[in-house]
Amino acid sequence: MLNGERKLRVAVLVSGGGTNLQAILDATKNGLIQNAELSLVLSNNPAAYALQRAQRAGVPTVVLSRRELGGQEQFEAAMIRVLEDCGIDLIVLAGFMTILSEDFIRRYDHRILNVHPSLIPAFCGKGFYGLRVHEEALARGVKLSGATVHFVNEIPDGGEIIAQKAVEVLPGDTPELLQRRVMEQAEWILLPRAIETVARQWMKIGQ
Ligand code: GAR
Repeated sequence: MLNGERKLRVAVLVSGGGTNLQAILDATKNGLIQNAELSLVLSNNPAAYALQRAQRAGVPTVVLSRRELGGQEQFEAAMIRVLEDCGIDLIVLAGFMTILSEDFIRRYDHRILNVHPSLIPAFCGKGFYGLRVHEEALARGVKLSGATVHFVNEIPDGGEIIAQKAVEVLPGDTPELLQRRVMEQAEWILLPRAIETVARQWMKIGQ
């Protein structure tokens, strides 16, 4: 930890399997992440396996359903309440498959990170998420894909890029095979590193 100061408090937002969340949990355990602590895992899907990963690691979890709360505005208001109650500094979108409004994004300017499974600006933007990204990459016949960690702004996948890593596309790849390789060789490495980098910068400038 830098200068014995407090750690950056991180919330990870998830919807599904949570392998990126697992990479963050592992990086915290093995000391790769030192200046940030995982303080909350928030899911919009009660069945997300990511919730079990968080619970196993003793991280508090919250589930919020847009439908049950009555719409986007109420959903985001509830999210903001939870994030503020937990004193969250940084929000990490790790497979969070739901839209965030411009108001929400502006409120957390340079305080939301996203991991995207391609080399932005390729195969990104509206409609490009999860397996779909890899289907499009294979359909286009690219020989390199990869992953990007970036700050979130109002433009889908358009915010400032923090880190990228290329991954080879191999003959015979299916979307599932390519997705797994991009996760293993890029996402799970880049995302924990980016959190630590942001935490160090943050602590240095004493925000
Ligand atoms: C990851 O590949 C992540 O990059 C992608 O969803 C997957 C979630 O997996 N996110 C997007 O496509 C966002 N546009 P995980 O739940 O196992 O971490």
